[in-house]
Amino acid sequence: MARLTTSFVQSVAIAISLLINFSRASPNITAELGPFLSSDATIIFPGSAEFLVATDRDNEQAPPTYAVVVEVATESDVQATVRYANRHNISFLATTGLHGGTSALGNLQQGINVRMRKMNATTIAADGLSATFGGGILSLEVRDALWAAGKQTVTGACECVGLVGPLLGGGHGYLQGFYGLISDNLISARVVLANGEAVSVSATENSDLFWALQGAGHNFGILTEVTSRIYDVPSTNWAYAQYIYTHDKVEALFSQLNTWTSNGTTSMPVEFVNKNIFARIPGIDADNAVIIFNIFYQGADVVPTEYTAPLLAIGPAVTAANATDYPGLTLIDSTTVDSAVCQQHDAVNMMFPISIKSYNIEAQRAAFNSFNELTADATFINSAVLFEGYSTQAVKAVPSNNTAFPHRADNYLITPVVSYAVNSTLDSKAIEFGDNFRQALHEADGSAELHTYVNYAHGDETLQETYGYEAWRLARLQTLKKKYDPDRKFSFYAPI
Ligand SMILES: Cc1cc2nc3c(=O)[nH]c(=O)nc-3n(C[C@H](O)[C@H](O)[C@H](O)COP(=O)(O)OP(=O)(O)OC[C@H]3O[C@@H](n4cnc5c(N)ncnc54)[C@H](O)[C@@H]3O)c2cc1C
Ligand SMILES: *[C@@H]1O[C@H](CO)[C@@H](O)[C@H](O)[C@H]1NC(C)=O
Ligand SMILES: *[C@@H]1O[C@H](CO)[C@@H](O)[C@H](O)[C@H]1NC(C)=O
Ligand SMILES: *[C@@H]1O[C@H](CO)[C@@H](O)[C@H](O)[C@H]1NC(C)=O
Ligand SMILES: *[C@@H]1O[C@H](CO)[C@@H](O)[C@H](O)[C@H]1NC(C)=O
Ligand SMILES: *[C@@H]1O[C@H](CO)[C@@H](O)[C@H](O)[C@H]1NC(C)=O
Ligand SMILES: *[C@@H]1O[C@H](CO)[C@@H](O)[C@H](O)[C@H]1NC(C)=O
Ligand SMILES: *[C@@H]1O[C@H](CO)[C@@H](O)[C@H](O)[C@H]1NC(C)=O
Repeated sequence: MARLTTSFVQSVAIAISLLINFSRASPNITAELGPFLSSDATIIFPGSAEFLVATDRDNEQAPPTYAVVVEVATESDVQATVRYANRHNISFLATTGLHGGTSALGNLQQGINVRMRKMNATTIAADGLSATFGGGILSLEVRDALWAAGKQTVTGACECVGLVGPLLGGGHGYLQGFYGLISDNLISARVVLANGEAVSVSATENSDLFWALQGAGHNFGILTEVTSRIYDVPSTNWAYAQYIYTHDKVEALFSQLNTWTSNGTTSMPVEFVNKNIFARIPGIDADNAVIIFNIFYQGADVVPTEYTAPLLAIGPAVTAANATDYPGLTLIDSTTVDSAVCQQHDAVNMMFPISIKSYNIEAQRAAFNSFNELTADATFINSAVLFEGYSTQAVKAVPSNNTAFPHRADNYLITPVVSYAVNSTLDSKAIEFGDNFRQALHEADGSAELHTYVNYAHGDETLQETYGYEAWRLARLQTLKKKYDPDRKFSFYAPI
């Protein structure tokens, strides 16, 4: 009798689990979710051209895979999709610009891609001080919609990157010296939480979540809409100077930058943005990498001579200089939608970020040499190292505990981008290079703390490196994670 009961219970358990597994393996999403979606939403299955467009990532380091894409058009579509996914225990991820590359993304397999791109509207407030943007808007769309009204705000530098993705990790861009990070401009947002509930966040509503979204936001929800501060466009242009130098100029260039900042103890003027790149340009030097040195200077038609004269004296191989308006910057910076960084092309683009305060000249030389060695192998010839020196005045003006973003004191954002056609046998070499590169810069920096920008994260960084070393900061984030996402549904981007 006891045996019979046990086996009966077992059979029922097996039957139930088969049923659950069956409904989990093949729930009919068209029939079950479709009726709850708005008329503009679509469900897209593998095998279609639309599916490829919605899932083709910029960086194939650790790509997530999807059983289905739900192209949402309203907040309630997002809620219905999250609830459907939860009912069937299917993982999900919001996507916008598809430029995220951190390795935790690869933990999402056969999930639901909550495609945000249809939510791309811009509405400028009547007082002209703020605008509300759809959660799936791109940098380009933000910039152009505001520009048409004589306005601007902080976005990432790359036209094809989302607004919200960068915002959730802080968000660096050309205008940050004047207005702060992308996230510093956030006034309020609508957020769909892990359980499908939609809430408003601001300094006065769910302010704890508002704090966390500004720097650790990938852990907490799907943003359907954000309202941010916007600004009048100044009447002046952006001057630029672009110089390309051969390999022997590394010391002179970074020493010059250090001279201007008294070795990192003072800031460059707020108007001054410096972005440099180590890259291979065989037409300039067939045997070695080169240094592309860029200055973007807001408020003038010519970069002031005090900056250009010493740089010209160093002896660039190629020079270009002119002025442009704000939307014209991306053409000069090679970050337009037509540029190489905006093409999706089955490539790995591994990043290993480190944020620092000043340049150590010997370390810059060693960094250049290691990059030169890596890219001597044609397999890695499209790789680069980015040295981003956006001005920081308005970033530093915000108290460090105001938001979750932990790295306000740093001046330079550096990352190798190790680029190659997808081929897993090359991954270990890329990782070895990136780890050594970052470690060497960290040791030269002399700081006990390694700071890694979450939006560039490789994926193997510690919580401290990514979200800050202060114990109170991590404790607060962990408490908020338990409160807003106890089942860890948002675990595919530098998870807490
Ligand atoms: C070529 C290139 C240029 C870049 N330029 C800059 C730059 O200038 N400044 C800068 O700060 N960073 C920059 N980044 C880094 C960028 O911040 C991250 O890659 C960011 O994750 C990209 O967001 P996305 O929407 O394009 O990508 P996705 O891969 O679509 O999204 C990335 C992450 O954001 C989440 N996400 C997207 N939309 C939403 C939403 N509406 N609600 C909730 N979560 C959402 C996704 O779930 C995912 O976790 C750049 C990266 C690349 C590859
Ligand atoms: C799913 O449901 C839709 C709509 O009810 C139906 O047209 C379709 O044939 C179903 N698909 C499968 C695989 O059963
Ligand atoms: C949900 O899925 C996860 C991983 O896919 C699994 O570990 C977990 O046990 C599942 N939960 C339920 C209730 O089936
Ligand atoms: C942007 O939004 C408009 C209006 O909803 C829509 O027609 C368009 O398709 C959206 N863009 C993308 C790329 O989805
Ligand atoms: C900057 O550092 C260099 C090299 O260590 C040193 O020679 C120089 O005096 C420093 N300059 C300032 C202003 O601190
Ligand atoms: C400078 O830019 C202006 C405006 O884009 C353009 O008309 C002009 O040809 C440029 N001059 C040079 C020398 O590139
Ligand atoms: C930041 O710290 C200051 C001083 O300790 C405190 O007054 C303030 O409330 C803190 N702000 C936040 C958002 O925690
Ligand atoms: C992958 O890289 C290895 C090592 O360089 C090379 O031998 C192999 O041919 C590559 N595979 C493809 C498909 O390109």
